[in-house]
Amino acid sequence: MLIQPDIIKKYDKPGPRYTSYPPANFFQAGFSDEEYINQLKLSNSQQPQNVSFYFHVPFCPQLCHFCGCNTELTRTKTFIDRYFEAMKAEFEAVAIHIDKSRPVTQIHWGGGTPNSVSLDLIKQVMDLVRKHFIFAEGADIAMECNPAHLTHRQMDELAALGFNRISIGIQDFSHKVLDIINRRTSKLPIKEVVDYLKSKGIHVNLDFVYGLPGQTVDSFAETIREAIEIAPHRIVTFSYAHVPWVKEAQKKLEEHGIPDATSKLSMFDRAFQLMTESGYTAIGLDHFARPEDEMAQALSDRTLHRNFMGYCTQSHTGQVYAFGSTSITQLDGAYIQNVKDTVKYVETIEQKSIAPEKGYILTQRDKICRSVIEELMCNHYIDLKQIAKNLHLEYDELIHITGFKSSDLQQFMEDKLVDWNDGQLTILSEGKFVLRNVAMLFDPLLVETKTAMRYSKTV
Ligand SMILES: C[S@@+](CC[C@H](N)C(=O)[O-])C[C@H]1O[C@@H](n2cnc3c(N)ncnc32)[C@H](O)[C@@H]1O
Ligand code: SF4
Repeated sequence: MLIQPDIIKKYDKPGPRYTSYPPANFFQAGFSDEEYINQLKLSNSQQPQNVSFYFHVPFCPQLCHFCGCNTELTRTKTFIDRYFEAMKAEFEAVAIHIDKSRPVTQIHWGGGTPNSVSLDLIKQVMDLVRKHFIFAEGADIAMECNPAHLTHRQMDELAALGFNRISIGIQDFSHKVLDIINRRTSKLPIKEVVDYLKSKGIHVNLDFVYGLPGQTVDSFAETIREAIEIAPHRIVTFSYAHVPWVKEAQKKLEEHGIPDATSKLSMFDRAFQLMTESGYTAIGLDHFARPEDEMAQALSDRTLHRNFMGYCTQSHTGQVYAFGSTSITQLDGAYIQNVKDTVKYVETIEQKSIAPEKGYILTQRDKICRSVIEELMCNHYIDLKQIAKNLHLEYDELIHITGFKSSDLQQFMEDKLVDWNDGQLTILSEGKFVLRNVAMLFDPLLVETKTAMRYSKTV
């Protein structure tokens, strides 16, 4: 065990996950259509130049009790067809405002379970994207898939549609854990699925979650050993986020006993050792990639990025335009979230072709804090003097804007979690467990809204 239980106890407190800055709970209701269109137009002159698209499919044939995603039980075929018609109409309406000379570097289908619907529907949307935009060479075309629906035929179809990255949700190989979380097992053996996708030149991620009821340090290590044996390109281990005040179904898991922070970290710790010893490189908080992977390369060059779709390299990052219910458009200057309720989303699109519900326009201060937090979360290192220089600020100005007090690092240094030297902050090996706590030191909004927001625990 690398990190002591008393240290875990000291730092395990609610805090943002920083998949965006400011976090999504800062988005304000009543974001107008005019403002949305204005922000789309402004994005054409913002950096990065690339274009990314996110498509959200909010349907799952069976709901897992641990799930924190925006999803619902699959509806009738008629409704799903209507939902896809709506996404196509929304795409056409938004595409009008985007500069077509900007290349597409990333397309991501998330959910819910995109591979639980007819791939003909997915094809219709992809054809539309290809009709309007040019793709950069080597663009990432990715889908999140549930292995309960993956067949050889479906994998052939995904390859034919140009998908070159597939994330497969495994969560755990133990049937006991899968039963507790109300999840079906894979249709085909996972090794067969991964080998088949690899033979088609598709890059494969396997997703796992630790901290679930029924898991122990040994059982999760067994799952990770099996994953290493299967040898996907990347292994992703998410820390279970327990937010029953948002996700009612998670309360059912409490009956089985949810592992405490210490056992949870021990699970991660063992998994971390197993993966790194077998040649995977740890990326950010939860990704593990083969050393030849471009993400591992980006980590060593300190050019890793993160958006709502996960980690990506600088060359693949774009302004993210998102489609479907609850999806979040992530631009340099603003975040815009679509109507959450699926029926309401479809009705709104049928009426007026776009459906923003909430949004947030970033201030200059937000953009500066975002640069610092994003870089810290991705690369586990920041050089504040260099960041100040890149942002055309004096060092003292940057410190003042972020509200950072180096004295707050004292306890982290005493606990040997970080190293701080002349404006350079390095997260040490055990410090990765408290990365979110360190990022919180550069978040002035957190101090200003201390009592108003509710977050999952940081460990
Ligand atoms: C949209 S799902 C993946 C696709 C597909 N629906 C599936 O389950 O295989 C995205 C991933 O988020 C992770 N996830 C979902 N809920 C979570 C939670 N409460 N805490 C941590 N990770 C979670 C899971 O690993 C899941 O596979
Ligand atoms: S984990 Fe995947 S399949 Fe399960 S409910 Fe969430 S989105 Fe659906």
